[in-house]
Amino acid sequence: MQIQELKLLNFRNYEKVMVSFKDHINIIYGKNGSGKTNLVEAIYVLALSRSFKQTNDKTLIRNDADLTKIEGRIQNKYQNTYKVILTPEGKKVKIDNNKITKISDYISKINIVLFNPNDLRMVKDTPSIRRKYLNIAISQLNVEYLRELNQYNKLIKTRNAYLKRMYLNGNSLETYLDVITEKMVDIGLSLYEKRKNYLSAMNSFLKGFYKTIATDGELEVRYSSDYTNKSKKELLQIYKKNLSKDLTFGKTNFGVHHDDLEFYLNGYLLKDYGSEGQQKNAVISWKFSEIEIIEQEKGVTPILILDDLFSELDVEKIANIFKLIEKDMQTFITTTEISKVESLLDNQDYKKIYVENGKIEEV
Ligand SMILES: Nc1ncnc2c1ncn2[C@@H]1O[C@H](COP(=O)(O)OP(=O)(O)OP(=O)(O)O)[C@@H](O)[C@H]1O
Ligand SMILES: [Mg+2]
Repeated sequence: MQIQELKLLNFRNYEKVMVSFKDHINIIYGKNGSGKTNLVEAIYVLALSRSFKQTNDKTLIRNDADLTKIEGRIQNKYQNTYKVILTPEGKKVKIDNNKITKISDYISKINIVLFNPNDLRMVKDTPSIRRKYLNIAISQLNVEYLRELNQYNKLIKTRNAYLKRMYLNGNSLETYLDVITEKMVDIGLSLYEKRKNYLSAMNSFLKGFYKTIATDGELEVRYSSDYTNKSKKELLQIYKKNLSKDLTFGKTNFGVHHDDLEFYLNGYLLKDYGSEGQQKNAVISWKFSEIEIIEQEKGVTPILILDDLFSELDVEKIANIFKLIEKDMQTFITTTEISKVESLLDNQDYKKIYVENGKIEEV
């Protein structure tokens, strides 16, 4: 899968630009603050209709403008034009000028895997951040997963609201709560299975990639979930048992909304024991494993974005990472140090794109 051409209108620090890309390697270079990350962010938003940054959609709109448009020509089996239009009021997505009403129908179409230094949060941050990464990865593969996730989240809200009501006026029906709980368990179990399968696929690649990039150990990810090894019947019993606790807290204390995944290097929790470099290598290994899983499940090679890979990694590791880039993988590399990247790419065919102050120059 490749993005051949990108048009931006009022996206971040870009006013109006059009740029075309090579099918293999594209290097986006320029000084700090020039717009390199913004450019790859636009590609990401085109694919997933939202940014990888934890920001409000509004910040994507160029200051003083009232909407932003991102348009891209994507080559997969067929060639299609994708469009994302964002206004402060909301977003619209289109494929070949047909409006797609359900975002979930849009976002599994363009497959993309992005690395950005912020992704270290995957190791270091809270479980909710890790779940977010996992949810995005599985949603790209499986439209059903995203629908179920939305349903599950709605059910939790409904259940929590009902718990509060029950607590306040004791005469509310417990049978209604049972109906919500059973639905939640059914969907929760399905999410659990999909997450478990995904992480098991992840583990079949993770170790190998980590060993190619660094040589210091065995990497694995472990899934922890309240639902581990429990049947529907057992789960329903647990919710029954937890009812008084749930009523006191006014929320559902047990379920897959607490799931977590943790990285271990040589059996030690990477979050607590790993160096910055080891954590970064782990995240990059995860990203390359994501690519393998997409290829396996969907039969397409996703677009790879490596944003600012160079900070904190030595040249040897970067060279190892570059070796993992397959021939048919369209890749975007952003850097402030073009000569460093070029020296590592020796004979390969690549395109250079120079960015300065929201202006693009194709070299
Ligand atoms: N909504 C917006 N409107 C106008 N400019 C914006 C907007 N959002 C961000 N910018 C500007 O974009 C620039 C940052 O661009 P970007 O993050 O792409 O830089 P970069 O080239 O990746 O830099 P670095 O090498 O430091 O990572 C900043 O100057 C910032 O002020
Ligand atoms: Mg940047």
